[in-house]
Amino acid sequence: MSLLTASNLSKVYEPDTIFTGVSAEIPQKARIALVGPNGAGKTSLVKLFIGEEKPNTGQIHIARGTTISYLPQRPELIGGHSVWDEQMRAFEHLHEMEIEMADLATKMGDSPEAVERYGYLQEHYERQGGYNFEARVRMILSGVGFSENEYQTPLTKLSGGQKTRAVLARLLLETPDLLILDEPTNHLDIDSQEILQAVIENFGGTVLLVSHDRYLIDALATQIWAIRADDGMEVYEGTYQEYIALRKQRETQISEVSNGNTRKKSAQYAQKVRGMNPFQLKKRVEELEQHITKLESQLEALTSQIEAASSLGAADKILSLGAQYTKTESALETAIAEWSELAEYI
Ligand SMILES: Nc1ncnc2c1ncn2[C@@H]1O[C@H](COP(=O)(O)OP(=O)(O)OP(=O)(O)O)[C@@H](O)[C@H]1O
Ligand SMILES: [Mg+2]
Repeated sequence: MSLLTASNLSKVYEPDTIFTGVSAEIPQKARIALVGPNGAGKTSLVKLFIGEEKPNTGQIHIARGTTISYLPQRPELIGGHSVWDEQMRAFEHLHEMEIEMADLATKMGDSPEAVERYGYLQEHYERQGGYNFEARVRMILSGVGFSENEYQTPLTKLSGGQKTRAVLARLLLETPDLLILDEPTNHLDIDSQEILQAVIENFGGTVLLVSHDRYLIDALATQIWAIRADDGMEVYEGTYQEYIALRKQRETQISEVSNGNTRKKSAQYAQKVRGMNPFQLKKRVEELEQHITKLESQLEALTSQIEAASSLGAADKILSLGAQYTKTESALETAIAEWSELAEYI
């Protein structure tokens, strides 16, 4: 069963259409990475899901009873309350229950309804961790890297990364069915990034993660949503590495098709140059051979650059090098095609 189903969504911020025709589902336990260039509409899409914005077309269906917790791209924390008090916000519903239970306790002597209601509340209070929430808060705060002497620090005194971790802890305490994180690693140092990765892995629920962070996506995502700058969104069920491999394969297929066309052109060209004198033909073949050698060594250099970028996890670099590789490879195939046509005549 899906927690959320979106069909044919579009979002317009006049005069710009940010995206159209976005359809996707969030299956239970999925860990989805929402990727795409800056300004493609990732945050806008997430805001539709949490109901902060309305779509211009399309529908979003959220399974009944699904709870969603959301870490905004720039968590705004107002007020000088402490790290600990921020966590207490996750238990506001428990405090409300405590107040009602205290009131009912005074009426239980002569009201069977009060007894019944008290029993009902007590069961829920217990099930939602009412009797052991402090222990859970400590566990989660330590899990996101806070030591006990930081519990009373006002949020206003925290760094960007610490704020993100404090909010993340509160969201985890809410034990949502769906956790939506919009670029959570933006302000995090390396240690905090590792903590974040472990925290998401241990969360065990369904996660929608907006990120540019290749490491995090590689480590966590079971599904990729790639929102395009021009239009639409591609849903790929698999890891990021598999998705990148598929894209590369597609690019190669496209370049093979265009090479097919080029080959035809080369053949026509060869027909024409049959009129060339043998010296001109030989010169062209030599030129092509030099060009082919150059392209081959460029491909070799690109391969080692891609390997280096992969080991650094530099996603943008890998993508741009990958594009260069495809272009160079296609230029090489074109050159070889022309060479093999002309070489026959010398
Ligand atoms: N409330 C708004 N009013 C007008 N335009 C908006 C509003 N919110 C977003 N936009 C515009 O919509 C486009 C998409 O923005 P959005 O923040 O969704 O992109 P994004 O993919 O999250 O980008 P980034 O990777 O930089 O976070 C941008 O051009 C942005 O300026
Ligand atoms: Mg964004």
